[in-house]
Amino acid sequence: MSEKNFYLTTPIYYVNDKPHIGHAYTTILGDVLSRCHRLLGDPVHFLTGTDEHGQKVERAAQKNNTDPLTHCDTYVKRFQELWQRLNISNDDFIRTTQGRHVTVVQKILQDLWDRKLIYQSNYEGNYCVACERYFTDKDLKDGCCPDCGRKVDTLVEKNYFFKMSAFQQQLIDHINAHPDFIRPVNRRQETLGFLKQPLDDLCISRSKARLSWGIELPFDKDYVTYVWFDALVNYISAVGYLADDASFSKWWPANFHLIGKDILTTHAVYWSTMLMAMDLPLPQTIFAHGWWLVSGDKMSKSTGNVVNPMDMADKYGVDSLRYFLMAAMSLGQDANFSEESFVVKYNADLANNLGNLLSRMTTMVVKNFDGKLPAMGESTPAEAELADACKKAAESWENAIKNMQLDRGIADIMAACAATNRYFDAMKPWSMAKAGDTAGLARVLRSTAEALRVISGLLYPVMPTKMEEMRKSIGIADDQLVPSMANLGEWNLLQDGAVVTPVPGSLFPRIKFEANA
Ligand code: MSP
Repeated sequence: MSEKNFYLTTPIYYVNDKPHIGHAYTTILGDVLSRCHRLLGDPVHFLTGTDEHGQKVERAAQKNNTDPLTHCDTYVKRFQELWQRLNISNDDFIRTTQGRHVTVVQKILQDLWDRKLIYQSNYEGNYCVACERYFTDKDLKDGCCPDCGRKVDTLVEKNYFFKMSAFQQQLIDHINAHPDFIRPVNRRQETLGFLKQPLDDLCISRSKARLSWGIELPFDKDYVTYVWFDALVNYISAVGYLADDASFSKWWPANFHLIGKDILTTHAVYWSTMLMAMDLPLPQTIFAHGWWLVSGDKMSKSTGNVVNPMDMADKYGVDSLRYFLMAAMSLGQDANFSEESFVVKYNADLANNLGNLLSRMTTMVVKNFDGKLPAMGESTPAEAELADACKKAAESWENAIKNMQLDRGIADIMAACAATNRYFDAMKPWSMAKAGDTAGLARVLRSTAEALRVISGLLYPVMPTKMEEMRKSIGIADDQLVPSMANLGEWNLLQDGAVVTPVPGSLFPRIKFEANA
């Protein structure tokens, strides 16, 4: 991959509740991709943040007997603390209550109003208070909201509308001309299917009589902006739209908007047409991933099946959690979360496959070579095969990043690790030691260390802390602990005589699963 600016965003999260494993997933995914691109040498800008206006937040504040901004100030910390704990390397964190955002939203509204792309009209519609959206009669399911199933209210009021319909054909043409614009392909088809119906204009105002917690319309102080019209703008306000031209032209258009499948239409249709109205280029890719389910159901507070990422990190460690979330979901599809499957995968991949190999190799280097990494010496076909398996894993990982198939890339890295274990077992280095075959022993231990160098470098974006520990343990110099993707597939790069130090205990101690523990 050539070096180029890479701008990646997560959705901005509502501050109406504490973050759960689904929120953690999108942000970890963004972090892994950002770290991969940094290792490839690309300048990266990784943005996340919080969506702080609208009814959900106003209600949550009321419930807590506090004013909305105080509520946001308290709840935003839960997200920021979680991201810190999960080792998220975001370059910026935007809050939609920040002045830098509010100003831009108002400028955009004024401009669209001046150019008659926003107009005033009466509106009668089915409104779902919980989802803060109007639905057409066709959209409703048995008279209820198609998203949350709650009863909708019929509202008639003066409102302001964005001429979304004017951009329908332009959007269809764009999707057709850019196969990578909406991914994966089933989401692209879903959007094209949605666009087969005439597109309505979008109501972008809320009367202050009903909702006051929002960005005031610059041309009517009795109204605030519809929360989605405000929130989506974060992707450009954060990088300096209408404020810092150098920064904006450096980062926009974004390479990736990472989203969950629940917010596909707002991104693929609302946001795209908003950008068209502003005469701005569209993002390169909107990527919608699936949901984490618990026993087949969506997580929700009412069913009490919400998984708290902070608890998981405390119990099992941050990097193991990051690993599981990346390895166990095929991007685009839903996946089930259970603590038991977490432990099973952890033990199989991290404790038995990876951690155990590191421990066997390093212990033998200490015992037989005084802790100094031996030189490779003459190689045999078995080492060439091992080197090839590692090289293939590196190639597969690079493709996995490009094709958003991280689970497959990780599985291929784990397969290379299993191949190294098989090599180690087949060579029986313990027998070589006994027989005094120092050259053979050196070759096997050094080759295993080389394989672990490649593997730890590939897995670094997923488990930065643990892989740094592993790289230290096999004698990699401090200034190379952070790998570069450029030479990862190459062989025999470690320093002869480097100091090898086993990780005390184990890098990934086995976990015993205790149900309901
Ligand atoms: N505030 C809006 C997004 C505005 S973006 C301009 C929002 N916030 S949210 O907090 O409700 O959810 C944000 C995202 O969290 C979802 O789109 C999705 O990416 C992620 N997830 C929430 N629940 C999830 C799962 N159960 N599983 C996986 N991800 C899910 O929508």
